[in-house]
Amino acid sequence: MAPILEIREIQKSFGKLKALDGVSFDVEEKKVNILIGPNGSGKTTLINVISGFYKADSGSVRFEGKDVTGLPPYKMYAKGVGRTFQIPNLFWKLTVLENILIAEKGNPGESFLKSLMKRRWAKAETEATERAAKLLSLLGLSKVWNSRAITLSGGQMKLLELARALMSGSRLILLDEPISGVNPTLAHEIFGRILKLRDELGVTFLIVEHRLDIALSYVDTVTAMAFGKVVAAGKPELVMADPKVIEAYLGA
Ligand SMILES: Nc1ncnc2c1ncn2[C@@H]1O[C@H](COP(=O)(O)OP(=O)(O)OP(=O)(O)O)[C@@H](O)[C@H]1O
Ligand SMILES: [Mg+2]
Repeated sequence: MAPILEIREIQKSFGKLKALDGVSFDVEEKKVNILIGPNGSGKTTLINVISGFYKADSGSVRFEGKDVTGLPPYKMYAKGVGRTFQIPNLFWKLTVLENILIAEKGNPGESFLKSLMKRRWAKAETEATERAAKLLSLLGLSKVWNSRAITLSGGQMKLLELARALMSGSRLILLDEPISGVNPTLAHEIFGRILKLRDELGVTFLIVEHRLDIALSYVDTVTAMAFGKVVAAGKPELVMADPKVIEAYLGA
């Protein structure tokens, strides 16, 4: 089977700084892939290039076999590439369920969406609500479905962002540090739920994470970066034993 994401020779500079210096790798479908590397090695920049927030200077990105190089974020989202942010980005005054239902129609603005939501309820669009309920359950958010987003814990906010991306139909989800600042119990729970989403919905994940003590036991593959390049990729135990990876961390 062809990889869901194919990254080839991506270059991205900020002034004189080469943040990405010829990055190439594949992400296999229905796998959980983690992107690791010391601070400043280019991980977030790469996520921004894939999701369309940054334009690469050169190189290409293919998603599901199609060239998507240089497409803007909303087009990448429409094609099925969802993401979360290091700092969660939700509609804080809306409830958990409303935040998920919004994902279906894009993001035209909070007040407009509130009126849309009323009509939606009036028409009893049960199909969307049922899908949302299934996602709430898969992500452990059923109990807080009617709470405002602002009242959630940090971990729940990350899960809600994930639910929203899934509601929009994302098949590849990019997560930037999903367990940073989350207590270990919840961090394990978040990774457990990521595996469930992979197995039950067939979703593919590309995850940037520093907390390898927790993350590594859950992932299928590891891609290690240093100084804007990929230094190793493959099964976790092989990548973590690779001298180039050890050196990258020791040298950092
Ligand atoms: N918008 C920007 N403008 C200028 N320089 C940037 C910008 N974004 C990133 N950089 C620089 O590019 C390099 C790679 O940064 P990036 O944020 O991708 O690293 P990272 O691997 O995500 O690091 P961390 O683990 O600390 O999050 C760094 O030297 C950073 O300072
Ligand atoms: Mg980063």
